Formats: sequence, C-alpha cells, structure tokens
Amino acid sequence: MLRISHEPQIAPRTTLRIGGRAILLASLEKPADAERLPGLSHDNGGEIRAIGGGSNILAADGVLPVILAEVRIGRTEKPLVRPAGNVEELAETGQLPPKAAAAHAEGDAGMVRLEVGAGTFLPSLQRFCTENGFAGIEGMCGIPGTVGGAVAGNAGSFGCDMNGVLLNATVFTPEDGIEKLGRQDFEIGYRRFAPLGSHEWFLILSCELLMPKAPAAKLAETAMRALAGKKASQPIFAKTAGCVFKNPAGDSAGRLLDAAGFKNRSRGGARFSPVHANFLENMDSARFADALSLIEEAENEVFGRFGTKLEREVRVWQ
Ligand code: EPU
Repeated sequence: MLRISHEPQIAPRTTLRIGGRAILLASLEKPADAERLPGLSHDNGGEIRAIGGGSNILAADGVLPVILAEVRIGRTEKPLVRPAGNVEELAETGQLPPKAAAAHAEGDAGMVRLEVGAGTFLPSLQRFCTENGFAGIEGMCGIPGTVGGAVAGNAGSFGCDMNGVLLNATVFTPEDGIEKLGRQDFEIGYRRFAPLGSHEWFLILSCELLMPKAPAAKLAETAMRALAGKKASQPIFAKTAGCVFKNPAGDSAGRLLDAAGFKNRSRGGARFSPVHANFLENMDSARFADALSLIEEAENEVFGRFGTKLEREVRVWQ
C-alpha cells in the first residue's frame, strides 16, 4: 500500500541536511504502488521526485512544489541470488554489463544474478556482495544512499560503478507504467542513467545485477582499500552530498576548484571542504541560499579562469 504523509521535512531525509518541506511523502512498499503517483501529482500539483537515500540532493527552503517518492522495496529483505542464466546468449546479443562481459571474455563462467529492490541501502548491498564473493561493486565501499539512487545516478568509485554490473532495471514512468528495461532500453554512462524515449520522470523500483564470482577475501581487501582511500581524501564524516560537480572529460573538478581557491571557502554555515574541494559541507545550520551561491560562484570562477563549464552532479531542488 502507498503510505502518504503531509508536508514532510526534506532536510532530515538528505545527507546534506538542508531544505524545507515537500507537499507529500509517498512511500512505496511494492512496485504497483507506483501507479498511484501520477494521480497524486495531478491532484496535489507537485512534481514527483525520488528521494532515494537523499545523498545527492540540495533542497531549497519553504514548501517545495514536490512530492517525494520513497521506494522502500527491498529495504528489509536480502537480495535474491539466482543462477546467472544463459550468459552465452546475453553475450551474443550484447546484453552483458561490462564487468560480466570482461569475465566472460576471460573464460570465467562463474556468475550470479542478483535481484535487488531499489530501496535496499547501497552499503548493505555492497557488504552482502563482498561477503558472498560477488564482484563488481567492492570499490563502492563507503558510498551512502539506496540502490535506486545509485542506478539513477550511476554511482561509482575506485574502478566500480553500477553500470559495470547492471543487467536490467524495472522502472516506472507515467507514460509507460512499470517496465523491465534491458540494457538496450536505457542509456547509461558516467554518473547518468535514463530510460530511452521521452519521459516526464522515472522511478527505479528494482534491478538485476550480473556479477562474476571472486574470492570474498580479495573483494574485502579491495573494499577496505577503497574506504581507506576515501577516508584519506574525502570528508566522509561531514554532512555533504558527495561530489558537487561531475569530473570534466580528462580532468578533475576537485583539482580545478582547488586551483581556483575554493578549498575551505565558506558562506554562512556552508563551505567547500578543506579536505577535497569538490565537496560542499553543511558545517553549521547552512542555509540553501548560502550553499547555492557558493556553487554558482564556483561555476563562474572555474569557467572564468580555465574555460571549463562544470556540470552539476548534485541535484538542486527549488
Ligand atoms: N584534487 C586536488 N584538490 C582537491 C581534490 C582533488 O588537487 O581538492 C586532485 C587530486 O589530488 C587528484 C585528482 O584531483 O589528483 C582527483 O581527485 P580524487 O582522486 O579525489 O578523485 P575525484 O576525481 O575528485 C572521483 C569521484 C568520486 C570518487 C573518487 C574515487 C567524481 C565527480 N568524483 O573523485 O565520486 O569517490 O573519484 O573513485 O566522479 C561522487 O561522485 O560523488 C564521488 C565522491
């Protein structure tokens, strides 16, 4: 059943802890609940926005014309592990995700298929896969959020991303309803995912991952190395929304922002991290206006100095 609450607070549902209220919060426990969302949007006059784990969102103050969709599918269950199925056929039709394709090309036949609800927390999935010897997301140790959000933004770090293992995604769109999309039905790349075709919005309900098997101890070691790397270079204990900007081709947004003098630049309770210049921290009750004006200043100064137009990774809701 779709559970609805009125004027939910946004800030506590985001890792940055900034933002006012939405019109409604709609919590989905099963895929069919999504079918009520277009009606809710129509009746209440708000846009549907997936909240996921709130780890990539900067929300404005006040009551936003937004209906939060919280997908809880898979929140409390473990992923279902199934046999890989006909890998040969997937290979012949070009449907293998990159990590599975690489393992297949090396003659490695040991793979599994995981069914995962979009409401599963990514750290739980990452731990589950590492402990069970399923390879492909071990480098994503330390990324917060939900599996739905990770697919929607193709989250990644340390040589891994969701694209590497994503076989299909079950998605709701107001135009086509619930559909299981194979790799030929969506486009996916660096920090982006979208169902093909023209859709007002989409919501990820679940996905299947195809993962090569690998020794659990080896995966655990890679995960620990990734986490140590993050602890050394990112403000992982601060309130942030991850990287603010995507990396421009062949360069690093963090490097450019650092070179432009943004490390530790603050306004009100917001600042660019002294540890890594591509993270915006909510130091102390930061206001939306302070955070957004720092982001805009960064865009202008980096463009002015280096001619690079930074593209936002963080989603600004206003
Ligand atoms: N650098 C600086 N100053 C800084 C930050 C970085 O000079 O303030 C330099 C570093 O010294 C290094 C280069 O920039 O030479 C790249 O930095 P880093 O290794 O920290 O990686 P990144 O490109 O900034 C990317 C992802 C992270 C991911 C890490 C590790 C993006 C936008 N960022 O960071 O992902 O965790 O690699 O794989 O793709 C995210 O997307 O939210 C995110 C945190």
